[in-house]
Amino acid sequence: MSGLFVTFEGPEGAGKSTQLARLVERLWADGLACTVTREPGGTELGSRVREVLLDPSLTIDPLPEFLLYSASRAQLVANVIRPALDRGEVVVCDRYADSSLVYQGAGRGLDARLLTDITRAVTGGQMPDLTVLLDLDPVIGLERAARRGQPDRLEQADLAFHRRVREGFLVLAGLNPSRFLVLDAILAPEVLEERIWHAVQSCPHSSSTS
Ligand code: TMP
Repeated sequence: MSGLFVTFEGPEGAGKSTQLARLVERLWADGLACTVTREPGGTELGSRVREVLLDPSLTIDPLPEFLLYSASRAQLVANVIRPALDRGEVVVCDRYADSSLVYQGAGRGLDARLLTDITRAVTGGQMPDLTVLLDLDPVIGLERAARRGQPDRLEQADLAFHRRVREGFLVLAGLNPSRFLVLDAILAPEVLEERIWHAVQSCPHSSSTS
C-alpha cells in the first residue's frame, strides 16, 4: 500500500510550520501513522547542508545553491520519504522540489529544464499528492520573518527576488491545479487549518512516481 505525500510551500513568513504542526496533530488524533520532515534538512546530511545554505555570511552562486538543495533532497527521498510512503504512512514535508523550481528558477533565474531534469533524477519522480501553498505578500512575510530574529541567507535577498518567488509559486500552482491547494495566508489560522484538513481527507492516496 502506498501512503499519502503532503507538502507545504510558500514564501517567507507565510505560516507553513504552524499549519503543518496543526495538520500533524489532527493526523495523530485520527490514529494515522505519519512522518514529518522538512527541506532542506530531515537527515543528518540535510541538516548540515541546511546550515551551509542558510548561513548569511556565505555567498553561494545559483547553481551550487540548487545542487546543495538537491543533495539534501536526494538523501531525504531515499532515506525518509520513500520508505515511509512504502510503509503506507502519511508523509508531511515542509517544502520540497517546488521550492527549488521557484526559488532557484523564478528567483535566481536558473533554467527551468535543468531544474526539472535534475529534480526528476534526485527524487526518482516522487511528487506530492497534495501541495498546500500558503500565499502571502512578501512585504508582510518578510516582516513576520524578521520578528523571528536575524534574517538567514535567503531572507536577506532583496524584495524583487521575493516578489518573483511569490509569483513563481502562483504560476506553478496554476500549472498543477489538481495537486495544489492555494490559500491566502492572511486568513485566520483556524480557517486555514479546516481547509487543509478537508483537502487532506479528500485527497486520493496515490503517490505519483511519474
Ligand atoms: P524554511 O526556512 O522555510 O525551512 O526554508 C529554508 C529556505 O530555503 C527558504 O528561504 C526557502 C529556501 N529554499 C530554496 O531556496 N530552495 C529549495 O529547494 C528549498 C527546499 C528551500
